[in-house]
Parts: sequence; C-alpha cells; structure tokens
Amino acid sequence: MKIFIDTANIEMIREINSWGILDGVTTNPSLIAKEKTDLRTCVKKISEIVDGPISAEAISLDADGMIKEGRELAKIHKNINVKLPMCIEALKATKVLASENIDVNMTLIFSPHQALLAAKAGARFVSPFVGRLDDIGQVGSELVMQIVTIFRNYRIDTEVIAASIRHPIHALEAAMMGADIATIPYDILKKMVSHPKTDEGIKLFLADYEKSKKS
Ligand code: G3P
Repeated sequence: MKIFIDTANIEMIREINSWGILDGVTTNPSLIAKEKTDLRTCVKKISEIVDGPISAEAISLDADGMIKEGRELAKIHKNINVKLPMCIEALKATKVLASENIDVNMTLIFSPHQALLAAKAGARFVSPFVGRLDDIGQVGSELVMQIVTIFRNYRIDTEVIAASIRHPIHALEAAMMGADIATIPYDILKKMVSHPKTDEGIKLFLADYEKSKKS
C-alpha cells in the first residue's frame, strides 16, 4: 500500500518524507486554510519536496470552472492531480481533464456507486472518506472493501485512496482490504511507528549493554 500524507503543513511533509516512506500528498481547502497559505504556493512548495502525486482541490461547482481550475493547477507541476468533489459536474469535468491527461482525484466518496461512476468517467484516484462514515454510524472501512472488490472484478485501474483516516486501525484496515493508497495525517503516522514493547526492548538492550561494559 502506498502512503500519502494528508496535510498542507510543509514541515510535517518534510519530516515524513525524510523517513523514506512517503509516496504522495493530499491537501484540501480545510487543510490549506489551517496553514494560512494559498493553494498555488502550497502545492508548488510540496512539489519541490515530494516526488509523487500531490492533490490540489478545485473549488468550482460547475464543470467549466472545474476544467479551467484543473488546467491551471496541472500547470504548476507534473505531479499535481486535481481533486474534484463527487457530483455530476465533476464527472463531466473528469471526462475532459482525463482526455487531456490531467489526473483527477474524485473526493468526498461515500458510496461504491459514486466510486464506480468516477472511475468510469476517467478519474485516476477515488477517495472514500472512512472516518466521516464512522461518524454517522456506518463502517467506513467496508466502503473501501466494496470499492476495491468492484475495481478488481472489472480490472479498473483507478486507484483507491482510503481517506479521512483517524487512527492506526483505519490504516490497518485499508491495507487489509487492499486499498492502493492510504492518505494519513501526521500524528497517525507517528502513532504507527511506535509500540510500547519496542520502547521497552530498546531500554532493556541499552541497559544490558551498559552492564556488559562494566563486567
Ligand atoms: O483526506 C480527507 C481528509 O482530509 C478528511 O479527513 O478527518 O476531516 O474527515 P477528516
């Protein structure tokens, strides 16, 4: 499973990239607003750090606007893909952008039907929102499983990005269910590194090493 970081924070991106595990970055208007920056500046900076897909979200709600924004965003760097919110206008825009070899990440996917339609229109990625489904009492990870199954049934090469990941178990479930990618916030990536038994083991090895020096 590829790992993307879900943030617009440059320092966090730099840090996780230095771990050697980072395959790409997703941003959205909420994450950009949190960093008090603008989309163009932010994704340009990210493209100088990470060599992998970077999602930049359009804010238009009509196909012509999405296409115009998509073309502009794609010009910033070859790794930029255009995030569009799932709707009929976004399907129309995806068809056009895909025909121009501009990658689309269809976001705000909450049903397998939406994912299938996005893939048919030509999206390179679909982003099911796991945590937000959990929020309303549904099992978000089941959606990932349904989409992965459908795409496998028909050999659809659109990649599934498990998004709205809120804790390490979501990342684990995404991997178990065969998501191509999980886009994970910084704090959760840090949680995925640690295990109390690893910390305990490191302490024990060091203590034994110190003892052996004295003997
Ligand atoms: O990738 C989508 C993500 O940013 C949404 O996460 O936690 O706001 O549902 P959340």
